[in-house]
This record gives sequence, structure tokens and C-alpha cells, in this order.
Amino acid sequence: MDERLQSYVTELFAAEDPILAAIRARHPAAGLPPIHISPEEGKLLYVLLVAVEATTVLELGSLGGYSGVWLARALPPPPHGRLTTIEQDPRHAALARQAFAEAGLGSRVRLIEGAALDVLPTLSPGFDAVFVDADKEPLPQYFEWSMRLLRRGGLLLCDNAFFHGAAVDEQDRSPAAEGVRAFNRLAAGDPRLVATVVPVRDGLVVGVKVGE
Ligand code: DHB
Ligand code: MG
Repeated sequence: MDERLQSYVTELFAAEDPILAAIRARHPAAGLPPIHISPEEGKLLYVLLVAVEATTVLELGSLGGYSGVWLARALPPPPHGRLTTIEQDPRHAALARQAFAEAGLGSRVRLIEGAALDVLPTLSPGFDAVFVDADKEPLPQYFEWSMRLLRRGGLLLCDNAFFHGAAVDEQDRSPAAEGVRAFNRLAAGDPRLVATVVPVRDGLVVGVKVGE
């Protein structure tokens, strides 16, 4: 998108409050890679969760908690609203916990430290939405787990559908690029899902589970 139009949309629709701005600004100083979602992507996630009246959301990959704050804010307060977010890196998890506390969302968020593939089998199904934003190689497995854990009518959301262009770079045979391509193929072709890609930032897969 044209840069001026991009700024126009961000400022009008996705302006950050000081809490979100501080969490995002902390990433470089904390040594986190600059791979968090953008404000427009956060607002899109927020709108989608409100649209399905989500109360329970699962996130794979908390990073510094920036996306988690957008997600958790879309949910009703406890005891109904609950974001479950999984993070493998203890340093990231500590920063995410701090972010949720600062945003006043500590009681609305359950952060589970561990590898997603170890944690996923311990979760009960019925989530209103799953946001996948973790390591890319296991994406086909994350797809299957997400489908298992989502309720019918729930949203499957996945960051990095484009993977900086690697999705269409046939020379890139890296496990991460292959994982992204495999996830996209599954999301596009699985009869249990209707899905598309919204070209926000690095591409967001948006799907609705329509069958078991
Ligand atoms: C990268 C970007 C992401 O948004 C992510 O979730 C993981 C990795 C990357 O640029 O490598
Ligand atoms: Mg991402």
C-alpha cells in the first residue's frame, strides 16, 4: 500500500494507546526480533474476534505480548474471556507476562511456557479462534491441532502467509518456507475450512471452520 495511505489507515483506525506503543517500543531494547504484528493487523484481529463474539482464544507464539494485548482486549472480562497463549522462549514469556500485567489483562491471559507441540495435546477443544504466529517448520502440525481445537464457526488466523515473499520463491527450500507453503495449501484446500489471505503486513490467513 502507498505509504501515505498506510499512515492514514493506521492513524485513523489502529492508533495505539500508550500501553501498546510502549510494549512495541520495548522489543528492540529487549533484543526481540522485530517480527511482531503491526497495529493494522492487531486491529484486524480485534475486529474479527469481536465479530464472532469470541470468549476463548488460543495463540501460538506470544513473543513480547503485543499481539496478545490486541487479542485479549477483544474478549469479555473474566471469568468468561480468556486468552491462552503458548511461548517456548522463557525470555519472551517474561516480557509477555509483563506486557499483560501492564495492560491490566493479567487475569484474562493464561500464558503457558513450553513447546506448542507439547502443550497442544493438553488443551480442551472449543476455542472461538486460534492465532498461529510461531515457528514455521511445524505449521502443518499447527494446522491440524488448530482444526481439532476450534469450535465450528471458529476462526483460524495465521500470520506470515507471504513469509516475506518466500511463499512464492521456489528456490527457497528451507524448512520454514516449506512449512508456510504447506499451511497455506492446507488452509486453501481443506473442506473443513473456508479461508483466504488478507494482504496486511506479511499476509494473514483468515479462515472459518465449517466442518468437523
Ligand atoms: C518471522 C516473522 C514473523 O512474523 C514470525 O511470526 C516469525 C518469523 C521472520 O521474519 O522470520
Ligand atoms: Mg509472525
